[in-house]
Amino acid sequence: MQDPSAYIKQHIRTVPDWPVAGVQFRDITPLLSNPRVFRVLIDQFVHRYFDTRPAAIAGLDARGFIIGSVLAYELNVGFIPIRKKGKLPFTTVEETYELEYGSATVEMHTDAVQPGDRVVLIDDLIATGGTMLAGARLLQRLGATVIEGAAIVDLPELGGSARLRAAGLPLHTLVDFA
Ligand code: PRP
Ligand code: ADE
Repeated sequence: MQDPSAYIKQHIRTVPDWPVAGVQFRDITPLLSNPRVFRVLIDQFVHRYFDTRPAAIAGLDARGFIIGSVLAYELNVGFIPIRKKGKLPFTTVEETYELEYGSATVEMHTDAVQPGDRVVLIDDLIATGGTMLAGARLLQRLGATVIEGAAIVDLPELGGSARLRAAGLPLHTLVDFA
C-alpha cells in the first residue's frame, strides 16, 4: 500500500494567492470529498490516539471541527469546540492571537474541561502556530493537559511548528509543504 502521508498529500489542493496575494492556500476539501482518502486520514489519527485514551478531543474552528469530531466519535470520547469569538452562549475564556493574514480571538466554554483532563487538540493546518497555541492556552488555563497538538498539514517555513515545540507543546502532523 502507498505511504498514507503521500496519499493524503496528493489530495490537498494548492490555490495560489488566496485569500490574499502571496498566500499558497492548502485546501483540504478534496480530502474530505473522497471517502477513501478521508477514511485513511481519520485512521491515521485514530491509530495514533487509540491507546492514549484522552478525556476529549478539542477542535479548532472551523476546519478542526471536521476532523476532530469524527476522531472523537471513533475514540468514543467527547468533542470540545474552540470557537471564534462571539459564537459560544455560556461563560467563556478567550485568547487573541495573530494569523498569517490578520488576527483573531478564540473562545472555549469554561465547563468544557475539568482540571487534570488530558486532551488532544486538533486542527487542519499549522501556519504561524498562533491558532493552535491559543487553543492550548485556553485548555491549560482551565487546568487541562494538552497531550499533543495534531494537524494534517504543517507549513514549516512559517515557523509555527517550531514555535509550538519551543513553547513545550508536542506536535504531530502528517504532511509538510516546504
Ligand atoms: C486556518 C487553519 C488554522 C489556522 C492556521 O484557519 O484552519 O486554524 O488558520 O493558522 P496559524 O497557524 O497561523 O494560526 P482560519 O482562521 O483561516 O479559519 P477557518 O478554519 O474558519 O477557515
Ligand atoms: N491557514 C493559514 N494559512 C493557511 C494556508 N496557507 N492554507 C490553508 N489554511 C491556512
